[in-house]
Amino acid sequence: MPETLAQLSDVHVHFPVLDGMLFPREVARVRAVDGVSLGIRKGEVLGLVGESGSGKSTTGRALLRLQDVTAGSVHFAGQDITRAPRRELQAIRRRMTVVFQDPEASCNPRMRIGDAVAEPLRVHERLTAAALDRKVAALLDQVGLDESYALRWPHELSGGQRQRVGIARALATDPELIVLDEPISALDVSIQAQVLNLLDDLRKQRGLAYLFIAHDLGAVAHLCDRVAVMYLGRVVEVGPVADVIGAPHHPYTQALLRSVPLHDPQAARARGLQVLEGEIPSPLHPPSGCAFHPRCGQAIASCRQNRPALQAFGRRQVACPVTCPAATQAAQLPIAS
Ligand SMILES: Nc1ncnc2c1ncn2[C@@H]1O[C@H](COP(=O)(O)OP(=O)(O)OP(=O)(O)O)[C@@H](O)[C@H]1O
Ligand SMILES: [Mg+2]
Repeated sequence: MPETLAQLSDVHVHFPVLDGMLFPREVARVRAVDGVSLGIRKGEVLGLVGESGSGKSTTGRALLRLQDVTAGSVHFAGQDITRAPRRELQAIRRRMTVVFQDPEASCNPRMRIGDAVAEPLRVHERLTAAALDRKVAALLDQVGLDESYALRWPHELSGGQRQRVGIARALATDPELIVLDEPISALDVSIQAQVLNLLDDLRKQRGLAYLFIAHDLGAVAHLCDRVAVMYLGRVVEVGPVADVIGAPHHPYTQALLRSVPLHDPQAARARGLQVLEGEIPSPLHPPSGCAFHPRCGQAIASCRQNRPALQAFGRRQVACPVTCPAATQAAQLPIAS
């Protein structure tokens, strides 16, 4: 099995809510990430899905150390980077890069495309001007843009082209892992498949690992090896894409999947399907026990009290003792584990 490249272990990211102008004191906490453990192997694509506000971006930022963690640990390539100082992080940041949802974010309007792509190289490598130009041209070529784009300005590019520039920037330092935070969500539907295919090709050519944060489960099924489903700061189900998307076990994953193609909840209910109703609760006041219980059609009394941990269930892990009771979980464990 390929070795683990990045590992989040019981990561918590809490944002204090302060009150008082002169002597601010903490009056509450937003539990954006509340005990997440996830590993990404070399060359693996891990999808991260969940409703808006479930903590996906915060998890990605914690991995990149763009966000300090409140508790837990972050490892990259065997190195504990949880509290790594800036100098150490600089070396890690060549190996682990990011593409954001908004293509504008990767294009400074006052910078030509060539300079935007060259920027990470200028920070991390000492190249002659000619070598830098060659490398920028090669990077643009890899993302499907002609080298003449180097002289263009961001406003001359379409959204899809700007996102290609964002990907070229993320590739510049030859990373092993890229966090892709909804890289296709802001793009026109017709362009989404092109950018998704580009990401897939690059991954195969370069043996890249991705953390692919997405809302589009079709895209996740296309690109990812495994997928983790988040609800209110916790992972509720994680496993191979074929298992989790093909036959979801956690009621939340089931509801999330059913809410995708079925925009008509009445028709879904008529077919006996559970529909995702109501809004995700605030991470300021998460429900007791299983955070999903107020919206879950399969909840039993104990779901209100006990917060379920992830348990191995075949090739996946599920945090639901109702759909995956302990007896069945034990029976499904592979003999060797
Ligand atoms: N800097 C911050 N200060 C306070 N609360 C924050 C901060 N960043 C995020 N949050 C809160 O943490 C929770 C998780 O946010 P996050 O952006 O990680 O969700 P998400 O799953 O990425 O959502 P989306 O799908 O909308 O991008 C939200 O309730 C959000 O309001
Ligand atoms: Mg987000």
